[in-house]
Amino acid sequence: MNPRVNPVLGESEAVEVEGITQAVLAGSNQDLAHSETLPPSSYTSEAFFDAEVEKIFRTDWIAVGHVAQIPNVGDYVTIDILDELLVIVRGADRIRVMSRVCLHRWAPVASGEGNTKLFSCPFHRWAYGLDGQLKAAPHMEQADGFEPKDCKLPEVRSEIWHGTIYINLSGDADPLKERLADLDATFARYDMDKLVLAFSYKYECNFNWKIAVETFMECYHHIGAHSKTAEPHAPGRFSFGGDGGKGWTVCYAPWRPDLPIEERHKTGLPEFEGLSEEVLRNGGLYVIYPLTLFNTNSDRIHWTTIIPVSVNKCIWFRQVLVKPEALELPNYPEIIENIRETGMAIFMEDIEVNDMQQIGAKSSLATVGRLSHLEKTVWQFANYVRGRMRD
Ligand code: FES
Ligand SMILES: [Fe+2]
Repeated sequence: MNPRVNPVLGESEAVEVEGITQAVLAGSNQDLAHSETLPPSSYTSEAFFDAEVEKIFRTDWIAVGHVAQIPNVGDYVTIDILDELLVIVRGADRIRVMSRVCLHRWAPVASGEGNTKLFSCPFHRWAYGLDGQLKAAPHMEQADGFEPKDCKLPEVRSEIWHGTIYINLSGDADPLKERLADLDATFARYDMDKLVLAFSYKYECNFNWKIAVETFMECYHHIGAHSKTAEPHAPGRFSFGGDGGKGWTVCYAPWRPDLPIEERHKTGLPEFEGLSEEVLRNGGLYVIYPLTLFNTNSDRIHWTTIIPVSVNKCIWFRQVLVKPEALELPNYPEIIENIRETGMAIFMEDIEVNDMQQIGAKSSLATVGRLSHLEKTVWQFANYVRGRMRD
């Protein structure tokens, strides 16, 4: 057995992971003109998904929320990811991401979202402060040596970058800020940490997490999946991938050159200031590897993180963020409703092709496929996956 394979796997699973990993790595040195997809089995093998959990999700940075979800001290939201039950909370001093599993007998001490001064466990009413400190534990006075002051909900390592809250479960990833330094100026255009939440939704998808990311990051599929929605004004053939960086990449989806740029930005929401004509025309679909997606518009950000659940299930968690002044507009509810409707129509077109791809990937006759130059970002993302699985 290869000693680098996750040791919790049984031997047959280890062999399966090793075989798929070799197939994944086979494409490592391809240039774009010769690039290929990852092997279909890497989208359908439970054992390979388990290996991705260890080599990607637990050891890299993954986004779990945005500061706009918890604007006030005491605000909290809960999120479950990879069997970890977490709470993201704004304390008086700072934002924390903590385990919400009670230190007594493991009931979750919080659910949903809200505002609180204390997290009071529904089981036996142990109560924790916003920093996770155990403040009260009824009827424990006869437990010899038990010291509530020594008890704190474990905090998960987190970093907030341009308003998005990322966690690193293993605690030993390189600092996110350094890895994304070359994207700093681009994201600063949008004041992302000052935006407010217009609406959000979570959608349970029946496909592998990589399918969700890849479809987001290429516009080649406008020609088929969005032939009546996106293709007429943002044809896939005009799209192009940026060079990206160590922890990210971007796909631009330019507006058709013969259409006035004003048409792209007619929602009625207040726009970000100082965006160049080029930025306005090209838009930008940014992927922060491995799971976080930003669709930048002139007046709003479509923020998405993918929550992996199993090999063929993930949750698409989208939040639409707007400038705070937007809330003052008399027709704000109608504007947001329009954005929601248009966005959902395109989203459901993506879901349809993503579902198809997952089913096709299961076929024993499915093979590695060739990529178009319009899928440069898919090639870059495959190389990120290869890099993680190689280590
Ligand atoms: S499990 Fe939380 S108080 Fe008992
Ligand atoms: Fe799409």
